[in-house]
Amino acid sequence: MKKIKVNLDKKVASSYEICIGYDVLDRIGLLIVKNMPALHYIIITDVNVSAIYGGLLLDRLKGMALPADMIEFPAGEDAKSIGTTIAIVERLIKLGADRKSALIALGGGVVGDVTGFIASTFMRSVPYIQIPTTLMAQVDSSIGGKTAIDLPEGKNLLGTFYQPRGVYIDVKFLDTLPEDEMSSGLAEVIKYGIIDDVAFFNFLERNIEAIKDRDRDVLEEMIENSCRIKKGIVEIDEKELGLRRVLNFGHTIGHAIEAESNYTISHGAAVSLGMLAAAKISERLYDLPEGDRERIEHLLESAGLSCRIPQTITTDGIITRLRADKKKEGDTIHFVLLKKMGMPFINGGVPESVLRETVEGMKK
Ligand SMILES: NC(=O)c1ccc[n+]([C@@H]2O[C@H](COP(=O)([O-])OP(=O)(O)OC[C@H]3O[C@@H](n4cnc5c(N)ncnc54)[C@H](O)[C@@H]3O)[C@@H](O)[C@H]2O)c1
Repeated sequence: MKKIKVNLDKKVASSYEICIGYDVLDRIGLLIVKNMPALHYIIITDVNVSAIYGGLLLDRLKGMALPADMIEFPAGEDAKSIGTTIAIVERLIKLGADRKSALIALGGGVVGDVTGFIASTFMRSVPYIQIPTTLMAQVDSSIGGKTAIDLPEGKNLLGTFYQPRGVYIDVKFLDTLPEDEMSSGLAEVIKYGIIDDVAFFNFLERNIEAIKDRDRDVLEEMIENSCRIKKGIVEIDEKELGLRRVLNFGHTIGHAIEAESNYTISHGAAVSLGMLAAAKISERLYDLPEGDRERIEHLLESAGLSCRIPQTITTDGIITRLRADKKKEGDTIHFVLLKKMGMPFINGGVPESVLRETVEGMKK
């Protein structure tokens, strides 16, 4: 089992470990007791994950004589709501949870975000750990301590920064992950190669077929590298004030496409389109070498991610969404662009004409 330590500002949160391996679930009881002692453990998960892994985890905890319960809620982004949050908190109270209890997030990014949010607010905060089960959650959402729920007005509008006591990644969970969820996570993995580590991008190019075949060793190495890159950025900028913004590469246009499609395009597929758009804009405005943009496009395609924006999504719609982006400052939308592979920077605004032409050029 590989271990990565996340070192955080001691005034704000204590440091914790990310453990990565195959069959980590077999050792989960010990890891939890060691890193998060509590009088009562409550697993929070969605119905899909509960059906495959919920009972297994509950048995592991009970097998170590740990008092444990499980709460499940419906799967999917719609459940990342205030209604679900209140329902979970009511169940926690019914189960007798108090400040000596601890939460265990077992699932994808939705479960992790909701559980983290509840952990940071329930009884003025209780500890929690992350056991991420999607690729997206293993390489991205479980690391960094961002928690959130959605409101009818928009995604992630209510949230906190609250670090977990540990992140335990079992690569075996990916055996049951549907193909499109795998591709969605791969978009974030490819992003790390583009913004931070050209050698890792080369590794992904060489191994993309093995990754798609879910080769255990290759997946483990890929996840470990991704976690190291994300934790490195989070350590420097815990609250997303500066450097961490480069993690938004592809996300500005990606979010606009995702919302404009009424969430029929998955987050990963939308981010993939956003990354390609950002690469095209970088090529046009900042001399990103054509060869770099082509490599990005080719790897995204090989990973099963589309590089074409459906005709049904209008350019006007995307531009309107961009203007309303919650991360804009004044009238300027800051885009993360590339000088070259591995060298991202925050640009102070892209002319609307360039945005329009880029989006139009990517239509099916
Ligand atoms: N906090 C952060 O820093 C951060 C970063 C990125 C994304 N996010 C959030 O993450 C969420 C998306 O997360 P996601 O992509 O993991 O989606 P998800 O949590 O909705 O999971 C996707 C689907 O896969 C199922 N599933 C999970 N693990 C499985 C497994 N091992 N086998 C079979 N099915 C499994 C789930 O039940 C669900 O139906 C979004 O809400 C997004 O806002 C948060």
